Amino acid sequence: MGDKKTLRIGLIGYGFMGRTHSNAYKRLGDFFPDLGTRPVLKAVCARNKERVQAFAEQWGYESVETDWRTLIARDDIDAVDICTPNNMHAEIAIAAAEAGKMVLCEKPLARTVAEAQPMVDAVEKAGVKNTVWYNYRRVPAVTLAKQLVDSGKLGKIFHYRANFLQDWTINPELPQGGEGLWRLDDSAAGSGVTGDLLAHCIDTAMWLNGGIKDVSAVTETFVKERVHTASGEVQKVGIDDACIFHCHFDNGSLGLFESTRYARGHKALYTFEINGEHASIRWDLHDLNRLEYFDHGDDGIVRGWRSIHVTDGDQPYMDKWWVPGLSIGYEHTFVHQVADFFKSIDEGVDCSPTFREAQETQKVCEAVLASAEARSWKETGVTW
Ligand SMILES: NC(=O)c1ccc[n+]([C@@H]2O[C@H](COP(=O)([O-])OP(=O)(O)OC[C@H]3O[C@@H](n4cnc5c(N)ncnc54)[C@H](O)[C@@H]3O)[C@@H](O)[C@H]2O)c1
Repeated sequence: MGDKKTLRIGLIGYGFMGRTHSNAYKRLGDFFPDLGTRPVLKAVCARNKERVQAFAEQWGYESVETDWRTLIARDDIDAVDICTPNNMHAEIAIAAAEAGKMVLCEKPLARTVAEAQPMVDAVEKAGVKNTVWYNYRRVPAVTLAKQLVDSGKLGKIFHYRANFLQDWTINPELPQGGEGLWRLDDSAAGSGVTGDLLAHCIDTAMWLNGGIKDVSAVTETFVKERVHTASGEVQKVGIDDACIFHCHFDNGSLGLFESTRYARGHKALYTFEINGEHASIRWDLHDLNRLEYFDHGDDGIVRGWRSIHVTDGDQPYMDKWWVPGLSIGYEHTFVHQVADFFKSIDEGVDCSPTFREAQETQKVCEAVLASAEARSWKETGVTW
């Protein structure tokens, strides 16, 4: 530990993601002891002094700030980790890059392509390391899916389908805006399920199956007006409550995506399935350690879907955890992302997805929303 370099982290926002990231930094050294750099929880920033102080004490941050600009200006911060609502990502990321800090930004990169582009430009101009937390890539079963696709075992891909279903906004009395409810306010979130949930599905899909060329989408806002927490007034709801789109991938396969916050009974059902010429795979977040795999090359009398429990030491990331057969969870995906980020520092390479890569997902989200609005197909402009 004595010989390791340190990376002093400044965390902005201590909500849901602030906790997952803090946990990841704290677990890193114990489970990835070979990394040459270790994180130091230098400072956490949020507007409420008392609450941010309590968070700092609970999670072991050395200091607190209540203004993110002050945090960025500090000489003892090397990397800024952005865990704020989407409308604040751009301003913070650009300021951090201009101050020469590395930037780890939560997804989606920003609310729009236009807002995200200066973020890409800023990190590239400053030459600072950057990454976006599309953490589902780092579920070992999903990383294994990537290895299977890349190995060619599936052959030519015909179909990719993904769902991300929730049910938490069905109540029309739920206000929009403010703590915990900024996702319902389009000025803070940028969009509804498209930027929040489908962005994950799109990132995973393009990582596994290549660029999405064009899209045809339909969106719906089921509850059209809600009280805004800030004004107390009833205001129009600007987000998409549900979105369904289909698409062509560059490799000729067809994609089908659905996301909603109105699927009663579903809390966070993220699933995907890929059908290839020789084999198919499917994955379900609710059973995240398993990858379902069907290989047409199997002997006919035993041919069928097999359920691979991705917990063995030769499967992605699993040599770092317990013993074969024992599961890991959601929080570990963030530990893996931090581990890959620190590894990329050791090796002097990019940590995918970079801002530039996350901007491609942004382009698909924007084309999806534009297609729904225009009721026509839209090119995404993605160059994956
Ligand atoms: N990777 C994932 O799977 C995943 C999951 C959830 C959320 N997210 C993303 O993470 C980000 C945060 O989401 P969340 O669920 O943690 O939200 P949250 O509402 O739980 O937390 C947001 C935090 O931002 C802080 N904040 C707001 N304005 C601020 C300001 N001016 N200065 C400093 N802090 C400020 C709030 O105090 C709060 O601590 C969003 O971009 C969201 O899309 C990603």
